[in-house]
Amino acid sequence: MTDAAPTKSATPGDRVDKSNPRVREMFRQIAPHYDKMNHLLSLNVDKYWRSQAVRRLRIFPNHPILDTCTGTGDLAIAISAKADPTVDVVGSDFCHAMLEIARDKRDPGKPSSRISFLEADSQTLPFADDTFQCVTVAFGLRNVADTDRGLLEMTRVCLPGGQLMVLEFSQPRMIGLKQAYGFYFRNVLPRIGQWFARNDKSAYEYLPESVGQFPDGQAMADRMTAAGLIDVRFTPLTFGVATIYEGTKPGILPSQGLA
Ligand SMILES: C[S@@+](CC[C@H](N)C(=O)[O-])C[C@H]1O[C@@H](n2cnc3c(N)ncnc32)[C@H](O)[C@@H]1O
Repeated sequence: MTDAAPTKSATPGDRVDKSNPRVREMFRQIAPHYDKMNHLLSLNVDKYWRSQAVRRLRIFPNHPILDTCTGTGDLAIAISAKADPTVDVVGSDFCHAMLEIARDKRDPGKPSSRISFLEADSQTLPFADDTFQCVTVAFGLRNVADTDRGLLEMTRVCLPGGQLMVLEFSQPRMIGLKQAYGFYFRNVLPRIGQWFARNDKSAYEYLPESVGQFPDGQAMADRMTAAGLIDVRFTPLTFGVATIYEGTKPGILPSQGLA
């Protein structure tokens, strides 16, 4: 969430540059500060958002779960705490520096010790079709260069009957909050980010720009439907500052009748 861009910010009308090298380098730079900035800039609400996402996951024994764009691994760790030991949890990301932090967070003797973190581009996931019962992404899809390709890949590796979940920033629509949020995002957040991470101010302008240009609400749900998912629904959190999107891959999960 505390995404930062190393190059100049886009002017209105420009598309944010989300090429793989740029996004990977951006996260390499901010990796050491990512967790503390996340918690600070969201006033710790990011933890609540991830907990709500995990609460909504339908987890059955014996089938693995994939968390894509896992970053420093917080969602994968929360999932591992909810899943029983027969469920392998995998976290994938294309930024080595973020994954190194995720690996260091695994706690011997705790469910997190069972998570495998591996380097992979979400647009070409190195997994067979129909592998995972749940495929998740938190605050990551917005950064993937080709959103639809990312969604198609998540859907491809999901088991028929399995669940696909996206947690992402969205734009609150409530009058007053919309303006306050816009002001915080555009003016306060970049300054705090610069101060704490001692980075270029423009680096912290990536977040509002990328959120502003990313589909939310029904528009995002429509993209998930277009990727082949059914029963797509979305739940705004914290007055719509973030939203959980859920969809199901058509078919029947092998263990559904057994759980
Ligand atoms: C804002 S962080 C989110 C991290 C984590 N999911 C969380 O909830 O805090 C976005 C992550 O997406 C990763 N990412 C962006 N584009 C990617 C891609 N095409 N393939 C794999 N990872 C990608 C970045 O490296 C970064 O770690």
